[in-house]
Amino acid sequence: MYSLMINGKRQKVAVSPDTPLLWVIREHVGLTGTKFGCSKAQCGACTVLIDGRAERSCQTQVKDAVGKKITTIEGIPDNNPVKKAWISEDVPQCGYCQSGQMLQAVALLKAKPKPTEADIDEFMSGCICRCGTYQSIRKAIHIAAGMSSKGGGK
Ligand code: FES
Ligand code: FES
Repeated sequence: MYSLMINGKRQKVAVSPDTPLLWVIREHVGLTGTKFGCSKAQCGACTVLIDGRAERSCQTQVKDAVGKKITTIEGIPDNNPVKKAWISEDVPQCGYCQSGQMLQAVALLKAKPKPTEADIDEFMSGCICRCGTYQSIRKAIHIAAGMSSKGGGK
């Protein structure tokens, strides 16, 4: 039995130690906003925040997530600048990659509150979007950075 802190709530799950966190989140806790894409840390669809860092949950074993603060897309509040910018820019198309993109962007702005184009290229490069929403994502990140610097959201 593992006890995990996900979106501020304690969750107890009976799984083997090497179970990917992705499956724990989706199948055992029922938070399906985190998506399965490649299972090889190549697409970013499964991205969650672990202690504030963007991590691929398909490659994170549940035993390594114990004692850490896990945030999924469901744990991002409505007043978060990234969420607000994503909505105002109408970024998603099919939407499949977008929870991973948003959490990667949240981690980017935490590390670099005013990212340059090069910062965005580097930090977001592991998140693949088959619908090609990259330009909208880039614009939304700049908008979110502006909101953050004015003290909006968290
Ligand atoms: S499913 Fe984890 S990176 Fe693709
Ligand atoms: S919005 Fe469709 S894959 Fe990114």
